[in-house]
Amino acid sequence: MSQRIKKAVFPAGGLGTRFLPATKVIPKEMLALVDKPIIQYGVEEAIHSGIEHIIIITGRGKGAMEDHFDHSFELDTTLERRGKHELLAVSKQVASLARISYVRQKEPLGLGHAVLCAKDLVGNEPFAVILPDDVIDAEVPCLKQMMDVFEEKGGSVIATQTVEGPAISAYGVLAGETDPSNPRLFNTTGMVEKPKYEEAPSKQAIIGRYILTPRVMGLLEETKPGAGGEIQLTDAIRALLKEEKIYGYNFAGRRYDAGDKFGMLEATVEFALKREEFGERFRQYLKGLRL
Ligand code: G1P
Repeated sequence: MSQRIKKAVFPAGGLGTRFLPATKVIPKEMLALVDKPIIQYGVEEAIHSGIEHIIIITGRGKGAMEDHFDHSFELDTTLERRGKHELLAVSKQVASLARISYVRQKEPLGLGHAVLCAKDLVGNEPFAVILPDDVIDAEVPCLKQMMDVFEEKGGSVIATQTVEGPAISAYGVLAGETDPSNPRLFNTTGMVEKPKYEEAPSKQAIIGRYILTPRVMGLLEETKPGAGGEIQLTDAIRALLKEEKIYGYNFAGRRYDAGDKFGMLEATVEFALKREEFGERFRQYLKGLRL
């Protein structure tokens, strides 16, 4: 039987230059999608999937994330004094979401390097990686879907989405074949980070959810800078493929690239429309715009 996945690593040390000037002072992971910071969606997905320990990789200027997931004495006392019990519950709930550890990535050397920063905390057990920019709306949490595959198959599992056309070159891309017994499962034989469109080995783009065996940490230590001069997670997983089986999993759900302005706008509109308190009013508002 495979080991249960208890830990999830959240690389959140990046500079967020795509969102300047908003991210000059505020970490991009703290930008609000409707009324919740982007990273909280990922943390909630992890918890709803059964994760017990969250490891956030931070960097300079990212302290707001730690404050967000902590108790806010002044805020909580003020809300209590004013009798704002519902808001107090929201504030307290965020602080009690999960057991969270923080590791500082001192230099932005790439996604692979960020994951490697969690080596000591992860230890010798399989673990999850969640890229907080990828916000996923799904009936069954994406990570839970992948855990089910891991439990059944036992190898590392990478979330994928089918991407048509030249847009594929913004992603890591898997090589291999769809499993004949399950159209969501992809038997992986290779992978490449941000290939040219003409050289992409398939349409299966890597989305920011991974279940990895601990061996990947040793391989990350040996990984040289790749695409964009950064230490790439994709390159270390490709090395892992020489030793272990790896599956792609084309999860059921909708992914938003909240690290991109347009993706963030799409997510904002669609998440707002789903809100009970004002979804209908927002729908009427949108309908009334002369587009
Ligand atoms: C990272 C990964 C890439 C993956 C993407 C998904 O790239 O390196 O393989 O396809 O996330 O969002 P980034 O978007 O950080 O450049």
